[in-house]
Amino acid sequence: MSEKDIFVLGIETSCDETAAAIVKNGREIIANVVASQMESHQRFGGVVPEIASRHHVEQITLVLEETMRRANMDVNELDAIAVTEGPGLVGALLIGVNAAKALAFAHRIPLVGVHHIAGHIYANRLVQEMKFPLLALVVSGGHTELVYMKEHGMFEVIGETRDDAAGEAYDKVARALQLPYPGGPHIDRLAKEGKPIIDLPRAWLEEGSYDFSFSGLKSAVINTLHNAKQRGETLRPEDMAASFQASVVEVLVEKTMQAAAHYGVKQILLAGGVAANEGLRTQLREQMKRLPEVELVIPPLSLCTDNAAMIAAAGTVLLQQGKRASMALNANPSLLL
Ligand code: KG4
Ligand code: ZN
Repeated sequence: MSEKDIFVLGIETSCDETAAAIVKNGREIIANVVASQMESHQRFGGVVPEIASRHHVEQITLVLEETMRRANMDVNELDAIAVTEGPGLVGALLIGVNAAKALAFAHRIPLVGVHHIAGHIYANRLVQEMKFPLLALVVSGGHTELVYMKEHGMFEVIGETRDDAAGEAYDKVARALQLPYPGGPHIDRLAKEGKPIIDLPRAWLEEGSYDFSFSGLKSAVINTLHNAKQRGETLRPEDMAASFQASVVEVLVEKTMQAAAHYGVKQILLAGGVAANEGLRTQLREQMKRLPEVELVIPPLSLCTDNAAMIAAAGTVLLQQGKRASMALNANPSLLL
């Protein structure tokens, strides 16, 4: 290769993972460090913003040093620093943004601001080169979106949740079933042992809409559990998990298939923490038979949940497109894609 290799440092602190990574040419992970705070939040049943910020402050320097050490690189060898500027918890985002600005300023390195969801989508590029046009199904604790991409760096949200995110619904239903936080993996595990025999709604919304809604489903689960308890009946948690998962997965997969066919995409990318869901992966793979010419890409679990390699990957593309942030870059908790 005659062109010079591009090395980008990614920084991610939007929620409860303090993460840094170095990615080469937007596709190859050189180092990838994630410090999770999950245990600190578990006893509260969700992420506590104040605690998250404190952990980020404690961890950020250590995580950055560890990343440089693992990559065996010097900061001056970096071509850019990419950081999640939003959306997320403002106090958490600020730690990453300020660390990135300090490094970029001190070493005179270009700075790039990255949207967290763009990062989740670009996690796929660390596995497989993107083929446009493509459709990304982004499902996480804070997001449920169908994103159409005509080319690199161009994101069109064609559908999104009108209430709860898919991961949020998993976590709330898990809480109703008295499972630990985060509940997604626990429901996923229980669902395998149960049968989807409990009748629960599917929110298809208006004809042709690619939007989602999960709050009615969540309420239906809570009401069903409550009514059973009042009648002195016991519902098997495994069956409830299987029935809930069947409803979520059916709607996610069906809308993704319809959108993929309608937009004539070459690839479907799965992104976000809920992409770890076995039921979703299996059902998507199964339904892909309907679109034999479309390629399905699913990143490994470690790249589905929050990490900084995905931020570096997205940041590389933005850098190549000449999109630089100034020293005025700020955390934006409600940044639009
Ligand atoms: O992307 P992520 O790590 O953080 C956000 O940006 O939100 O996603 C976390 C979410 C949580 O709601 C968690 O319960 C869910 O992903 N999750 C799962 C599974 N693993 C994680 N949901 C369903 N099934 C899973 N196996
Ligand atoms: Zn995320």
